[in-house]
Amino acid sequence: MRLDKFLCECSGITRSEAKKKIKQGLVKVNDALAKDGAYKVDASRDNVLMDGVHLSYQEYIYYVFHKPKGCVCANYDALHDTVFSYVPMNPKEDLFTVGRLDMDTEGLLLITNDGEFSHNLLSPKKHVDKTYFALWDKPATEEDIKAFESGLEIGDDKPTKPAKLSFDKSNPTNVFITISEGRFHQVKRMSHAVGKEVLYLKRLSMGQFILEDNLALGEYREFTDKEMKYVKEYKGRHL
Ligand code: URA
Repeated sequence: MRLDKFLCECSGITRSEAKKKIKQGLVKVNDALAKDGAYKVDASRDNVLMDGVHLSYQEYIYYVFHKPKGCVCANYDALHDTVFSYVPMNPKEDLFTVGRLDMDTEGLLLITNDGEFSHNLLSPKKHVDKTYFALWDKPATEEDIKAFESGLEIGDDKPTKPAKLSFDKSNPTNVFITISEGRFHQVKRMSHAVGKEVLYLKRLSMGQFILEDNLALGEYREFTDKEMKYVKEYKGRHL
Protein backbone atom coordinates (compact mmCIF):
# COMPACT_ATOMS: atom_id res chain seq x y z
CA MET A 1 0.00 0.00 0.00
CA ARG A 2 1.24 3.56 -0.72
CA LEU A 3 2.73 5.32 2.29
CA ASP A 4 0.25 8.22 2.21
CA LYS A 5 -2.69 5.78 2.08
CA PHE A 6 -1.11 3.72 4.88
CA LEU A 7 -0.93 6.86 7.09
CA CYS A 8 -4.62 7.59 6.40
CA GLU A 9 -5.75 4.01 7.05
CA CYS A 10 -3.85 3.74 10.32
CA SER A 11 -4.64 7.10 11.83
CA GLY A 12 -7.81 8.36 10.15
CA ILE A 13 -6.19 11.51 8.70
CA THR A 14 -6.95 12.65 5.14
CA ARG A 15 -4.69 12.03 2.17
CA SER A 16 -3.69 15.74 2.02
CA GLU A 17 -2.89 15.75 5.77
CA ALA A 18 -0.76 12.65 5.21
CA LYS A 19 1.14 14.38 2.41
CA LYS A 20 1.70 17.39 4.70
CA LYS A 21 3.06 15.15 7.49
CA ILE A 22 5.55 13.65 5.03
CA LYS A 23 6.58 17.12 3.77
CA GLN A 24 7.05 18.37 7.34
CA GLY A 25 9.46 15.48 8.04
CA LEU A 26 7.16 13.91 10.62
CA VAL A 27 7.12 10.46 9.04
CA LYS A 28 9.91 7.90 9.26
CA VAL A 29 10.14 4.52 7.60
CA ASN A 30 12.68 2.14 9.12
CA ASP A 31 14.46 5.07 10.83
CA ALA A 32 14.86 7.08 7.62
CA LEU A 33 12.86 10.24 6.94
CA ALA A 34 10.14 9.47 4.42
CA LYS A 35 10.15 11.68 1.35
CA ASP A 36 7.73 10.04 -1.04
CA GLY A 37 4.05 9.37 -0.40
CA ALA A 38 4.15 6.81 -3.21
CA TYR A 39 6.62 4.59 -1.33
CA LYS A 40 5.13 1.09 -1.15
CA VAL A 41 4.80 0.06 2.50
CA ASP A 42 5.15 -3.61 3.36
CA ALA A 43 2.92 -3.65 6.47
CA SER A 44 4.46 -6.87 7.73
CA ARG A 45 8.09 -5.59 7.60
CA ASP A 46 8.32 -1.80 7.55
CA ASN A 47 8.41 0.15 10.79
CA VAL A 48 6.47 3.37 10.15
CA LEU A 49 6.49 6.23 12.67
CA MET A 50 4.32 9.33 12.42
CA ASP A 51 4.85 12.10 14.98
CA GLY A 52 7.17 9.60 16.70
CA VAL A 53 4.37 7.04 17.12
CA HIS A 54 4.57 3.56 15.59
CA LEU A 55 1.68 2.86 13.23
CA SER A 56 0.34 -0.60 12.64
CA TYR A 57 -2.12 -1.49 9.97
CA GLN A 58 -4.93 -3.80 10.92
CA GLU A 59 -7.07 -4.65 7.96
CA TYR A 60 -9.97 -5.94 10.01
CA ILE A 61 -11.35 -5.09 13.42
CA TYR A 62 -13.21 -7.52 15.68
CA TYR A 63 -14.98 -6.69 18.94
CA VAL A 64 -17.07 -8.60 21.45
CA PHE A 65 -19.75 -6.26 22.80
CA HIS A 66 -22.05 -6.82 25.77
CA LYS A 67 -25.17 -5.17 24.39
CA PRO A 68 -27.46 -3.51 26.90
CA LYS A 69 -31.20 -2.99 26.39
CA GLY A 70 -32.31 0.19 24.67
CA CYS A 71 -29.90 0.34 21.75
CA VAL A 72 -30.47 -0.85 18.21
CA CYS A 73 -28.17 -2.85 15.94
CA ALA A 74 -27.87 -0.25 13.21
CA ASN A 75 -25.26 2.26 12.09
CA TYR A 76 -27.70 5.13 12.45
CA ASP A 77 -31.09 5.63 14.09
CA ALA A 78 -32.93 8.92 14.42
CA LEU A 79 -34.73 7.94 17.64
CA HIS A 80 -32.62 5.49 19.62
CA ASP A 81 -29.08 4.89 20.75
CA THR A 82 -27.26 2.47 18.49
CA VAL A 83 -24.54 0.01 19.45
CA PHE A 84 -22.15 2.60 18.03
CA SER A 85 -23.10 4.96 20.85
CA TYR A 86 -21.04 2.48 22.92
CA VAL A 87 -18.45 1.21 20.45
CA PRO A 88 -16.63 4.16 18.86
CA MET A 89 -16.33 3.98 15.12
CA ASN A 90 -13.71 5.75 13.09
CA PRO A 91 -15.46 6.62 9.79
CA LYS A 92 -12.80 4.60 7.95
CA GLU A 93 -13.57 1.43 9.83
CA ASP A 94 -17.00 0.61 8.38
CA LEU A 95 -17.97 -1.46 11.38
CA PHE A 96 -21.23 -3.41 11.51
CA THR A 97 -22.85 -5.94 13.79
CA VAL A 98 -22.71 -9.66 12.99
CA GLY A 99 -26.47 -10.23 12.85
CA ARG A 100 -28.85 -8.38 15.13
CA LEU A 101 -30.39 -8.48 18.56
CA ASP A 102 -33.72 -6.81 19.29
CA MET A 103 -33.63 -3.45 21.03
CA ASP A 104 -34.79 -5.06 24.31
CA THR A 105 -32.37 -8.02 24.08
CA GLU A 106 -29.08 -7.99 25.95
CA GLY A 107 -25.97 -10.02 25.51
CA LEU A 108 -23.24 -11.11 23.16
CA LEU A 109 -22.89 -9.17 19.95
CA LEU A 110 -19.92 -9.38 17.61
CA ILE A 111 -18.88 -6.24 15.76
CA THR A 112 -16.49 -6.22 12.82
CA ASN A 113 -15.71 -4.83 9.39
CA ASP A 114 -14.89 -8.30 8.03
CA GLY A 115 -17.74 -9.19 5.69
CA GLU A 116 -16.52 -12.71 4.94
CA PHE A 117 -16.30 -13.62 8.63
CA SER A 118 -19.76 -12.20 9.32
CA HIS A 119 -21.27 -13.92 6.29
CA ASN A 120 -19.82 -17.30 7.23
CA LEU A 121 -20.92 -17.04 10.85
CA LEU A 122 -24.48 -16.09 9.86
CA SER A 123 -24.91 -18.41 6.90
CA PRO A 124 -27.81 -20.84 7.51
CA LYS A 125 -25.62 -23.51 5.87
CA LYS A 126 -23.14 -23.26 8.74
CA HIS A 127 -25.70 -24.04 11.47
CA VAL A 128 -23.84 -21.94 14.03
CA ASP A 129 -25.51 -22.46 17.41
CA LYS A 130 -26.72 -19.41 19.32
CA THR A 131 -27.64 -19.89 22.97
CA TYR A 132 -29.96 -17.56 24.86
CA PHE A 133 -31.15 -17.24 28.41
CA ALA A 134 -34.82 -16.30 28.57
CA LEU A 135 -37.16 -15.50 31.42
CA TRP A 136 -40.64 -16.82 30.55
CA ASP A 137 -43.92 -15.62 31.99
CA LYS A 138 -44.95 -19.24 32.68
CA PRO A 139 -43.00 -22.33 33.72
CA ALA A 140 -41.49 -24.52 31.01
CA THR A 141 -42.65 -28.13 30.73
CA GLU A 142 -41.26 -31.42 29.39
CA GLU A 143 -43.68 -31.03 26.41
CA ASP A 144 -42.00 -27.72 25.55
CA ILE A 145 -38.64 -29.49 25.35
CA LYS A 146 -40.13 -31.99 22.89
CA ALA A 147 -41.86 -29.28 20.87
CA PHE A 148 -38.57 -27.36 20.53
CA GLU A 149 -36.79 -30.58 19.54
CA SER A 150 -39.30 -31.24 16.74
CA GLY A 151 -39.15 -27.71 15.31
CA LEU A 152 -42.00 -25.23 15.63
CA GLU A 153 -44.49 -23.53 13.32
CA ILE A 154 -43.95 -19.83 13.92
CA GLY A 155 -45.82 -18.38 10.96
CA ASP A 156 -43.03 -18.63 8.35
CA ASP A 157 -43.22 -20.74 5.22
CA LYS A 158 -41.25 -23.51 6.95
CA PRO A 159 -41.18 -24.71 10.57
CA THR A 160 -38.01 -23.92 12.50
CA LYS A 161 -35.12 -26.34 12.64
CA PRO A 162 -34.95 -28.43 15.83
CA ALA A 163 -33.87 -26.35 18.81
CA LYS A 164 -32.79 -27.19 22.32
CA LEU A 165 -34.70 -26.05 25.39
CA SER A 166 -33.44 -26.75 28.88
CA PHE A 167 -34.33 -25.57 32.36
CA ASP A 168 -33.87 -26.43 35.98
CA LYS A 169 -37.01 -27.90 37.60
CA SER A 170 -36.43 -25.72 40.67
CA ASN A 171 -36.72 -22.58 38.49
CA PRO A 172 -38.73 -23.49 35.36
CA THR A 173 -39.36 -19.94 34.15
CA ASN A 174 -35.60 -19.54 33.61
CA VAL A 175 -34.88 -21.32 30.34
CA PHE A 176 -31.91 -21.83 28.03
CA ILE A 177 -32.63 -22.02 24.32
CA THR A 178 -30.19 -22.97 21.57
CA ILE A 179 -31.10 -22.30 17.95
CA SER A 180 -29.06 -22.77 14.79
CA GLU A 181 -30.97 -20.33 12.60
CA GLY A 182 -31.31 -16.57 12.88
CA ARG A 183 -34.89 -15.75 11.98
CA PHE A 184 -36.51 -12.46 12.94
CA HIS A 185 -37.55 -12.51 16.65
CA GLN A 186 -36.98 -16.27 16.53
CA VAL A 187 -36.67 -16.98 20.26
CA LYS A 188 -39.69 -14.84 21.11
CA ARG A 189 -41.78 -16.42 18.35
CA MET A 190 -40.77 -19.98 19.29
CA SER A 191 -41.60 -19.24 22.92
CA HIS A 192 -44.96 -17.78 21.86
CA ALA A 193 -45.65 -20.94 19.82
CA VAL A 194 -45.58 -22.98 23.06
CA GLY A 195 -47.75 -20.43 24.88
CA LYS A 196 -45.01 -18.51 26.71
CA GLU A 197 -43.97 -14.86 26.50
CA VAL A 198 -40.37 -13.75 26.88
CA LEU A 199 -39.98 -11.21 29.69
CA TYR A 200 -36.20 -10.92 29.41
CA LEU A 201 -33.74 -12.20 26.80
CA LYS A 202 -29.98 -12.41 26.76
CA ARG A 203 -27.66 -14.02 24.22
CA LEU A 204 -24.93 -16.03 25.92
CA SER A 205 -22.98 -17.45 22.99
CA MET A 206 -22.66 -17.61 19.25
CA GLY A 207 -20.64 -20.55 17.94
CA GLN A 208 -17.36 -20.60 19.82
CA PHE A 209 -17.79 -16.99 21.00
CA ILE A 210 -18.96 -16.79 24.59
CA LEU A 211 -20.06 -13.83 26.70
CA GLU A 212 -17.83 -13.83 29.76
CA ASP A 213 -18.78 -12.49 33.18
CA ASN A 214 -15.97 -9.94 33.21
CA LEU A 215 -17.40 -7.93 30.30
CA ALA A 216 -19.91 -5.53 31.86
CA LEU A 217 -23.09 -4.39 30.12
CA GLY A 218 -22.24 -1.69 27.57
CA GLU A 219 -18.54 -2.68 27.42
CA TYR A 220 -16.62 -4.04 24.49
CA ARG A 221 -13.21 -5.57 23.95
CA GLU A 222 -11.07 -6.77 21.08
CA PHE A 223 -10.97 -10.48 20.21
CA THR A 224 -8.41 -12.53 22.10
CA ASP A 225 -5.75 -14.55 20.23
CA LYS A 226 -7.91 -17.64 20.76
CA GLU A 227 -10.91 -15.90 19.18
CA MET A 228 -8.75 -14.76 16.25
CA LYS A 229 -8.06 -18.45 15.60
CA TYR A 230 -11.82 -19.04 15.41
CA VAL A 231 -12.03 -16.22 12.85
CA LYS A 232 -9.52 -18.06 10.66
CA GLU A 233 -11.48 -21.29 11.07
CA TYR A 234 -14.78 -19.69 10.08
CA LYS A 235 -13.18 -17.93 7.14
CA GLY A 236 -11.36 -21.09 6.06
CA ARG A 237 -14.48 -23.21 5.80
CA HIS A 238 -16.04 -23.10 2.39
CA LEU A 239 -19.78 -23.09 2.00
N1 URA B 1 -34.56 -13.99 19.13
C1 URA B 1 -35.37 -12.98 19.48
O1 URA B 1 -36.57 -13.14 19.57
N2 URA B 1 -34.81 -11.78 19.71
C2 URA B 1 -33.48 -11.55 19.64
O2 URA B 1 -33.02 -10.43 19.89
C3 URA B 1 -32.65 -12.63 19.30
C4 URA B 1 -33.22 -13.84 19.04
